[in-house]
Order: sequence, then C-alpha cells, then structure tokens
Amino acid sequence: MPTALVTGATAGIGAAFARRLAADGFDLVLLARDAARLAKAAEEYRAAHGVTVEILPADLATEEGITAAEIRAAEGVDLLVNNAGFGQHGKFLETALADELDMLKVHCEAVLRLTHAALPGMIERDRGGVINVASVAAFFSRGTYSATKIWVVNFSESVQQDIAGRSGGVHVMALCPGWVHTEFHERSKMDKAAVPDFMWLDADTLVAAAVRDFRRGVGVSVPDVKYKALVGLSKAIPRGLSNRISARSGRRYNQ
Ligand SMILES: NC(=O)c1ccc[n+]([C@@H]2O[C@H](COP(=O)([O-])OP(=O)(O)OC[C@H]3O[C@@H](n4cnc5c(N)ncnc54)[C@H](OP(=O)(O)O)[C@@H]3O)[C@@H](O)[C@H]2O)c1
Repeated sequence: MPTALVTGATAGIGAAFARRLAADGFDLVLLARDAARLAKAAEEYRAAHGVTVEILPADLATEEGITAAEIRAAEGVDLLVNNAGFGQHGKFLETALADELDMLKVHCEAVLRLTHAALPGMIERDRGGVINVASVAAFFSRGTYSATKIWVVNFSESVQQDIAGRSGGVHVMALCPGWVHTEFHERSKMDKAAVPDFMWLDADTLVAAAVRDFRRGVGVSVPDVKYKALVGLSKAIPRGLSNRISARSGRRYNQ
C-alpha cells in the first residue's frame, strides 16, 4: 500500500486529505501538534478503512518538530501533503514578530525541508509526489501570509521543473484554495461574516478537485471556477489596484 504523510492532518483541509487518502487505500502518517487529537483521528481511519496509521506529534514552528518530520519523510513516503498552516490576527505591525517568524518556519522552511527529504526516495522509485498547500491569497498582497503562499507556489513550480529531467513519474503541485470552511478563521480570530456565503468552499470538495488535478499533472491547482476567474483577474488588473483591494477585503478580525 502507498503511504501518505499529511501535515496539519487533524482539522480542515488536512483532515479532508487524510479522509480521502484513507478511503483510497493509502497508509497514513498524520502530523499535527495535538497528540490526543491525532490518536483519535488515527483510530477512526484504521476502523473505517483498515489502513495503517502512524501519528507524528510535532510542532513545525520548531527545529525539533521539523527534524522529526524530515526524518520520517526521508524514510520513504509516496505522497507528501505539506498542508499545516495558520493565519495572522491583524496587519504587519499589529502582529508579534515571533508569530511572523513562526509563519515563515511552518509555511516555508518546513515545506522546503520535507520536500527535500521526501523527493529522493520518490525519484528513485519513479512514482509519487508532493502537494504543497498554498492559497489564492498568493496572487494578492495580504501581509506575510500571502508572501509565504506565493513562495509556496513558486517553490513548487521550480522544484517540478528541476526534477522533470530526472523522473517523469514524480509530480509536485501547489494547491491554491480560496476561502474554505475549516478551523483556520476561528484560530486567527478572523470575522467570517466579512466573506460572502457564496465564496466559501467545502474542504472535501476542494480535496476531490485537488486529487483530480494532481493525477492529471496540473502544476498549480486552483479549485472552483470563481477562484480560477479571480486568479485570472489578479493577473489582468494593475498591480496597484489589486494591492489596494486585497489589503482590505476579507481582513476583518474579531477581538
Ligand atoms: N481555510 C481556508 O480558507 C484556507 C484558504 C487557503 C489556504 N489555506 C491553507 O490550508 C492549510 C490548512 O489550513 P486549514 O484551513 O485546514 O486550517 P485548520 O482547520 O486551522 O487546520 C490547521 C491544521 O494544521 C495544524 N497545525 C497548525 N500549526 C501547526 C504547527 N505549527 N505544526 C504542526 N501542525 C500545525 C493544526 O493542528 P494542531 O493545532 O494540533 O497543530 C491543524 O491540523 C494552511 O496551509 C492554510 O494556509 C486555508
């Protein structure tokens, strides 16, 4: 059975990936910080799908956590889903510098190091791949968050180019979700009411589209037609206008 390592696997998009991959017959390595929640999720997937599930409690904002994940990724996985992430509560000078640095560590350093650890085994076997969860925000200017996510998009495309000559069977994809119902917004105290209902996506539907795109060899997956249009628009309108709109919209916080 193939094995998938999913970071941020206990909630939202990561949990939707774990559910889908377990149903598809993948053995799982589930990573998040909350060990009790990981154990509960693992039990559910074992019972529902008869797959083998390892849990890896680790904080990807720490050197220790990234190293533990890196070691497991290097031992061999067929699919790596770099999904763990979080939002900011406020604008650049309103957020603690330590939180900004944690974001770079979780969204960029962990993604880079886990991809670097997992790919050699995949290339040797000439199969498998990496899904790096970015965001539609990557195409707009929304603080350190969007800056890390455009890094994820560019990094994924660059790595795909770099491995193309070495392995036709291994694929790296950036996944760019729009607004998805998860715990993300409550955790960063965002005001969900600031986003109209029709803009919200369901995590399981998003993951189904992502898996389809990954199998087709798509490089940058933007599920849902309205978000495809939005990303297209972001490239068509002047950068200054796009910056002014994106700095404001959907960026209201609860105290
Ligand atoms: N929801 C959206 O609207 C949306 C849109 C675009 C992109 N995204 C991206 O999608 C990804 C998943 O977000 P989500 O919406 O599913 O969020 P979520 O529901 O809050 O889930 C986040 C997951 O990541 C884990 N996590 C958070 N910080 C971590 C850390 N330092 N180390 C290890 N695990 C950590 C959490 O578990 P623990 O707390 O137990 O560690 C949880 O399993 C993120 O990269 C996010 O940027 C989300």
